[in-house]
Amino acid sequence: MTLQLHQLSKQYGTTRVFSQVNLQVAQGEFVAIVGESGVGKSSLLNCMAALDTWSEGRVTWTGTDGQVTDLGALDETAQALWRRAHLGFVFQAFHVLPHLDVAQNVALPLMLLGRREPQRVDELLAAVGLQGLGQRLPAELSGGQLQRVAMARALVHRPALVLADEPTGNLDPATAATVMDVLQQQTREHGASLVLVTHSTGAAARADRVLQLRDDGLHPMAPAHSVTAM
Ligand SMILES: Nc1ncnc2c1ncn2[C@@H]1O[C@H](COP(=O)(O)OP(=O)(O)OP(=O)(O)O)[C@@H](O)[C@H]1O
Ligand SMILES: [Mg+2]
Repeated sequence: MTLQLHQLSKQYGTTRVFSQVNLQVAQGEFVAIVGESGVGKSSLLNCMAALDTWSEGRVTWTGTDGQVTDLGALDETAQALWRRAHLGFVFQAFHVLPHLDVAQNVALPLMLLGRREPQRVDELLAAVGLQGLGQRLPAELSGGQLQRVAMARALVHRPALVLADEPTGNLDPATAATVMDVLQQQTREHGASLVLVTHSTGAAARADRVLQLRDDGLHPMAPAHSVTAM
């Protein structure tokens, strides 16, 4: 599969956020997106997931069967079904459901697909260092623990494309490195693609490509090996 952005632009009212964004994410590729706060990274990631609308341009998805889907041409139900089937999304603000316990939150994507795989849920909880916390409610967790619940939930159903918005933003360096290991290992294992929005040079250094979002588009950054690895 590939995800493609063609000349994408986004504005809120009369305020332009970004324009001329072109990107092709190949199968199995790990792309990091960096950029100043407020430049539109979360907005761009939301557009890639068809969770937000854009002003101009197109977002297309080419499936393993070669069929091209124009995400902007789908209605909301079809977009939701596309996300359910292909996407894992780690939200910057977690978006865990407060009335479900940790294990139920992580199992949600599986449940929506009619799958029940408690072992897989336990495997992911252990991988992100939350073993034994499955019965806790989100209110009983720290910010960094919630972030790891959000990550486990994005990976549990082995999606073809994982979009992660600052997934290490609330973590100490050691936990951040562990969580990045999980993210990379899980996506690599299933040949999934990963788009990571991050302020962390360490996390970005792991990517195949680092792109900087500016108001006039995505620009290649210096090779990752020039930054200290995490
Ligand atoms: N619903 C909205 N209505 C109007 N403006 C918005 C809305 N959401 C975001 N913005 C503005 O759009 C711009 C891009 O926001 P966005 O959240 O995408 O930035 P970001 O690059 O992810 O920043 P950060 O690194 O702080 O997370 C910001 O200037 C923000 O104020
Ligand atoms: Mg953001």
